[in-house]
Amino acid sequence: MSDATRVLCPALQGRIMSADEAAACVQPGHNVGMSGFTGAGYPKAMPQALARRIAAAHAAGTPFKIGVWTGASTAPELDGALAKADGIELRLPYQSDPECRERINDGRMEYIDLHLSNVAQHAWFGFLGHLDVAVIEVTAIEADGSLVPSTSVGNNKTWLDLADRVIIEVNARQNPALAGMHDIYYGTRLPPHRQPIPLTHVADRIGQPTLRCDPSKVVAVVLTDAPDRNSAFAPLDDTSKRIAGHLLEFLAHEVRRGRLPAQLLPLQSGVGNTANAVLAGLGAGPFENLTAYTEVLQDGMLALLRSGRLSQVSATALSLSDEGAAAFDAEIATLRQRIVLRPQEISNHPELVRRLGVIAMNGMLEADIYGNVNSTHVMGSRIMNGIGGSGDFARNGYLSIFMSASTAKGGALSCIVPMTPHVDHTEHDVQVLVTEQGLADLRGLSPKQRARAVIEHCAHPDFRPALRDYLQRALDNGPGRHTPHLLQEAYAWHLRAIAGRAM
Ligand code: COA
Repeated sequence: MSDATRVLCPALQGRIMSADEAAACVQPGHNVGMSGFTGAGYPKAMPQALARRIAAAHAAGTPFKIGVWTGASTAPELDGALAKADGIELRLPYQSDPECRERINDGRMEYIDLHLSNVAQHAWFGFLGHLDVAVIEVTAIEADGSLVPSTSVGNNKTWLDLADRVIIEVNARQNPALAGMHDIYYGTRLPPHRQPIPLTHVADRIGQPTLRCDPSKVVAVVLTDAPDRNSAFAPLDDTSKRIAGHLLEFLAHEVRRGRLPAQLLPLQSGVGNTANAVLAGLGAGPFENLTAYTEVLQDGMLALLRSGRLSQVSATALSLSDEGAAAFDAEIATLRQRIVLRPQEISNHPELVRRLGVIAMNGMLEADIYGNVNSTHVMGSRIMNGIGGSGDFARNGYLSIFMSASTAKGGALSCIVPMTPHVDHTEHDVQVLVTEQGLADLRGLSPKQRARAVIEHCAHPDFRPALRDYLQRALDNGPGRHTPHLLQEAYAWHLRAIAGRAM
């Protein structure tokens, strides 16, 4: 049941209307900033109403497309609905929606892939154009018009500040006890007036619990009652367990060598099943009193919190399965004291990631023998999802770790290649590579030493001979011996893969 009692601001009570009425506030060509981060805290009703409006306009022969800006990926009710209606001219930043992916890759939708920490400041700098409308899901509206965020914060602060008009969705399904978990920092100024961000520990609170919102900009309040898109995680398979095993052994080794404290340093864990497996492994490992300074709090991290292994988490979104969300709701009274949800410009801020010494652990599509990582583009051209926050953490972390299975597509493709056809993380930002085959510690190694370590420790045995042969011939015949390559052959590797898969 939608709940008007959650709208405590008298001025805004009079602006309650249906999602279809609210959707009429958006015009063709508008840029619309929406809440939402990995299926948490996105507006549930208005985007679908807007998609209906766009579809009706198209049926009547009237072009209608908008720019969609979010925190990160959202859900079928937002990205999927607007993409299916062919209503998105340009989408930014991270997305993982199949409908969007298809349109981006066949050239019907423009897409800008940005480091997630950069999105807010690029909007403020004016690099992205004008923001016309903000559509933000909240848990409640306070009497003074300030907003209690829901399960993600993302770029909501920035969208609310920059947009000409604001539409608020008040979702009765969001737990009222979320109030107080958020920390919205209003101290980021534009250069040259920036000051250091006063955060030195994972759980520091440096802002306020609610989002400011100028009530005079609010054109509509829509009442909803719908769950987040909570995606299930795959059961842990042998590959992800082996990756987790190598990584945990490495972390224990670093503690023994005195390069990490016994409780490690704050963890950042990327999205996906492998990352979840690593967190599960930590639950069974020797580490206690862990902390996390990360982007999303997923099931694996929740389990660590509940077991007491993890003491504090800073993130920008809850990204839980249905089971995880139910467990979180049941224990919210105690868990909320150990979780801080922040704007993504703070959860992913390079200054803070560097200061705290974060251990960054992210997934990849492929790495080359020198350690360059491709997280985003299959065959160098087709976008998978986007870089997300991986670059924010990888470049600035204390340790930068990337992991994947050693092969993809049933073993047909090697995820270790001579030269990645697209680079998201350069060799300078990648210190450790892990596959189920093993772990390559690239710190302190020259390019040729790195290549040998990556081939021998990470590549699948089926592909090792070809990679060794490539390296040797590049050394013997290539134009240079610092980072030996045979350019035609490096690309022929991918062309053979494309031919093999008839893409
Ligand atoms: N070549 C071609 N396709 C490949 C591939 C390769 N080398 N490696 C993986 N794939 C395909 C898989 O086959 C799978 O395709 P499918 O969905 O059609 O089955 C897909 O990519 C996902 O691979 P999967 O093994 O399931 O990995 P994942 O769920 O761990 O995701 C990334 C890996 C790279 C896509 C994911 O980590 C990502 O989007 N990263 C970028 C953003 C990020 O790191 N965010 C976290 C920052 S906080």
